[in-house]
Amino acid sequence: MQRQESSPPIIQCENLVKIYKTRDLEVLALQGLELEVARGELMAIIGNSGSGKSTFLNMIGGLDRPSAGRLIVDGKDLFKLSAQELVLYKRSTVGFVWQNNARNLLPYLTALQNVEMPMRFDRDARRKRQRAQELLELVGMSHRRHSRLDQLSGGEQQRVAIAIALANGPKILLADEPTGAVDARTASYLMDVFRKLNEELGLTIVIVTHDPHLARKVNRVVSIRDGKTSVERIARGDYASRLDEVAGFEEETHDEYAILDRAGRLQLPREMLEALGVTGNQVRVEMAEGKIVITAPPRREEA
Ligand SMILES: Nc1ncnc2c1ncn2[C@@H]1O[C@H](COP(=O)(O)OP(=O)(O)OP(=O)(O)O)[C@@H](O)[C@H]1O
Ligand SMILES: [Mg+2]
Repeated sequence: MQRQESSPPIIQCENLVKIYKTRDLEVLALQGLELEVARGELMAIIGNSGSGKSTFLNMIGGLDRPSAGRLIVDGKDLFKLSAQELVLYKRSTVGFVWQNNARNLLPYLTALQNVEMPMRFDRDARRKRQRAQELLELVGMSHRRHSRLDQLSGGEQQRVAIAIALANGPKILLADEPTGAVDARTASYLMDVFRKLNEELGLTIVIVTHDPHLARKVNRVVSIRDGKTSVERIARGDYASRLDEVAGFEEETHDEYAILDRAGRLQLPREMLEALGVTGNQVRVEMAEGKIVITAPPRREEA
């Protein structure tokens, strides 16, 4: 689904800061992150280990409170929700899929029982059963609905985990390295499941991944570096034509953009600065023919 620019973004994140305080240490996990996600968007977040990807997902998921900034999700200000409202928010607005299956699944129950688990607030047993069946069908697992989870492969377990995350009909699906523990082929298949859910249900999906090659399966890829968004890539054309033309390089299918924050600050990709030979903290900026041109400052002669 294409981004819908007209309706307000489902996730609005401005200058978001998260500080973890431990006894002798303060970690600045998010340092003024700026990001908007449109309703119905399928996007990925990539970035090095420790860059703040999981922290960001946990903030959107209401699993942890942000320290400063602004975070509005589906019209709700996450800084202002009461503890009770937060419980309801976590149950009904967001669904979570983790890399680690133990966090998603109960191994001794069947797939069907697992998917019914989050629906325990619904007293209608038949309705629950039917919804669980539909969800398993959606992720291509209905044929294994009576299998215990510990009898399924890692990729199959992840598909059940997706069905569980959808049980309460969330508006946003958050997945933290859902393909981290499966092989490349299974990872690609799981990405197809996400794409299908996005297209058929109009679900907003945010996927954190280490794998830049999975990026060509989504419409927008945002890189996070040191707790800030650095660059983003937007897909050219539609998915089908992208698959036709590609031999596996996301550079050919996505245009790359730097992120401008509200104060007009721009973070330039380190590789570009290195290519320019910029070593200090100054660059020359000028307008030329309707473009902003950034060049390395002239070398100062040694005195
Ligand atoms: N509960 C916590 N207490 C203290 N520091 C934390 C906590 N959670 C995360 N951090 C720190 O915050 C920073 C960002 O961590 P985060 O888990 O968001 O990174 P990540 O991008 O998800 O990394 P990875 O790719 O390894 O999963 C790291 O420096 C991490 O050590
Ligand atoms: Mg992480």
